[in-house]
Amino acid sequence: MAEIYQARTPVGHSYGDVEYYTRHLAGIKGKILEMGSGTGRILVRLLEADFDVEGLEHSPDMIAICRANCESRGFAPALHEGNMTSFVNPEAYEAVIIPAGTITNLDGRELTRAALECCWQSLVPGGRFILDLEIPGLLTGPQQPLKLWRSGEDLWTIEIVHSTFNPAKNQMVEYVRYEKWTSGRLMGTELHMFRTQHWVPEEFAALLREVGFVDVRITANYDDDARPGPRDNDWSFHATKPEATTD
Ligand SMILES: C[S@@+](CC[C@H](N)C(=O)[O-])C[C@H]1O[C@@H](n2cnc3c(N)ncnc32)[C@H](O)[C@@H]1O
Repeated sequence: MAEIYQARTPVGHSYGDVEYYTRHLAGIKGKILEMGSGTGRILVRLLEADFDVEGLEHSPDMIAICRANCESRGFAPALHEGNMTSFVNPEAYEAVIIPAGTITNLDGRELTRAALECCWQSLVPGGRFILDLEIPGLLTGPQQPLKLWRSGEDLWTIEIVHSTFNPAKNQMVEYVRYEKWTSGRLMGTELHMFRTQHWVPEEFAALLREVGFVDVRITANYDDDARPGPRDNDWSFHATKPEATTD
């Protein structure tokens, strides 16, 4: 899966988010944490833009590729192995970001709240929090065809083999088969389960306020002037940890 993520979305591959995060982090001189840093698609670009960024990631395979991507460009950032629902580095970061809808992989409100609280604790007072939500897509309709990527003699394929929607939890679950072929021989196959927790934008904003964040703003499609609407691809949330907290 990590190899395919790297092949599909190499460093700098952007949905508009690389430029969006770079723009909104401008002026931050202290440490920044990217939760769910993956192979470094965004992290490396932020390092190249002179930000002091660290990553937090639960997949050792993703971390290994991210580290190689950093080292080949002369960077050696801290890449923490851990889970975003428990990782805390107290008041260490001026900004925490969670791009690419990663927080929607968490199972329900309590785990999501736990992750937001970890971000809160890891931020300095006055620290900035920016994250994206994945937008609920069509839940029925034709199954996506097989997708494939080639590099030399290697070929990777992805196929969604099963998907379900749980209305009681407002979650979609997809089972995705990953395969790697070299010179026509199957080298490996993995089956991964992906959960997407769907949120109404205001419901998520309320959760951020419940955790203690202030100045919560929502934009759509990486456009500062766009507000959530029925045909969006992405929603971004901006929030701040207040300077003076009561905890
Ligand atoms: C959609 S990818 C995004 C990667 C990167 N942020 C980017 O924008 O390209 C989500 C990443 O988050 C990681 N991840 C998912 N759930 C996590 C968790 N609970 N704790 C830490 N990392 C997690 C996955 O392993 C994966 O690398």
